Amino acid sequence: MPHKTVRMSGKIIFNREIAKGHFLMSLNVSGHFSSAEASFRGVTPGQFVMLRAKGRDVPFLRRPMSIYSLYPSAGDLIIELLYRVAGKGTFVISRLKPDDEIDILGPLGRGFDIFPHCKRVVLVAGGIGIAPLSFLGHYYGADTVNKPPQIICYVGAQRADLLVGLDRMDEICSDIRISTDDGSRGYHGLVTELFEQDITLYNSSDSVVYSCGPFPMIKSLAEILRNQAVPCQVSVEERMACGVGACLGCAISVKSGYRKVCKDGPVFDIHELVWD
Ligand SMILES: Cc1cc2nc3c(=O)[nH]c(=O)nc-3n(C[C@H](O)[C@H](O)[C@H](O)COP(=O)(O)OP(=O)(O)OC[C@H]3O[C@@H](n4cnc5c(N)ncnc54)[C@H](O)[C@@H]3O)c2cc1C
Ligand code: FES
Repeated sequence: MPHKTVRMSGKIIFNREIAKGHFLMSLNVSGHFSSAEASFRGVTPGQFVMLRAKGRDVPFLRRPMSIYSLYPSAGDLIIELLYRVAGKGTFVISRLKPDDEIDILGPLGRGFDIFPHCKRVVLVAGGIGIAPLSFLGHYYGADTVNKPPQIICYVGAQRADLLVGLDRMDEICSDIRISTDDGSRGYHGLVTELFEQDITLYNSSDSVVYSCGPFPMIKSLAEILRNQAVPCQVSVEERMACGVGACLGCAISVKSGYRKVCKDGPVFDIHELVWD
């Protein structure tokens, strides 16, 4: 069932730099608890929020962020975001301090499809793409009805000091395989190369692959999986203006036509994406 999107205000609990240019932000939305709690109940990993620092005119538009974690704590609702400073908007957000207020619109978009009876969940994360995949891994791991699947995670970054989110992945994954572009940790090369070495382990009868990362990484993954039957869903990061399907700013081409990433995505079947 679609979740009601609400506009709310969050108060920053902490906003800490955990690696160069990478921040973990924790937000309390308890001031608006009833609407926030109602709206975020049953939220799916892969859904996102749009953020804007309160009382600042720059940047004017909110910025999209995947939900990294979401949980109730002592009657409050806490949202965590893991983000990289990419430009003006994320820089302004990174300067915010505890008790500063932030304007939030969410939850937005269609998250990952969940396959409750799947035996093996394979996560392929590039850089900050680990954010929605971490939430997804926890979601699978917390399944109290079905036996949680085996979770295997491939994590790639440019350098060892830019690997983020591994502590959380450690809690939920049976196997974490790391790559760095410069070889400073794990496999020396691209995360997709590392994944490709294991491709024969994963098949459509018991596995599902999920991925999030830079566009060239998703493109290589699509190429690797071109003749494979294993299902693969990816979260696509497109620039957004409204975030709610009103402006066409985030349209992408898929095999069946044009789709709005904010409303029809950000999660798509990798085989549906069109690359030229
Ligand atoms: C659904 C969704 C979820 C996202 N989740 C996260 C997350 O969890 N953590 C995180 O760090 N980032 C995430 N992003 C990307 C994040 O929204 C952008 O980095 C941010 O909007 C950049 O804003 P800015 O003002 O700092 O940079 P700008 O000044 O707007 O841009 C700086 C640079 O970043 C590039 N850029 C801008 N927007 C995007 C984008 N959407 N995707 C890729 N490159 C972009 C620009 O081309 C430019 O090179 C997500 C994006 C989407 C669409
Ligand atoms: S950002 Fe406006 S339609 Fe998607």
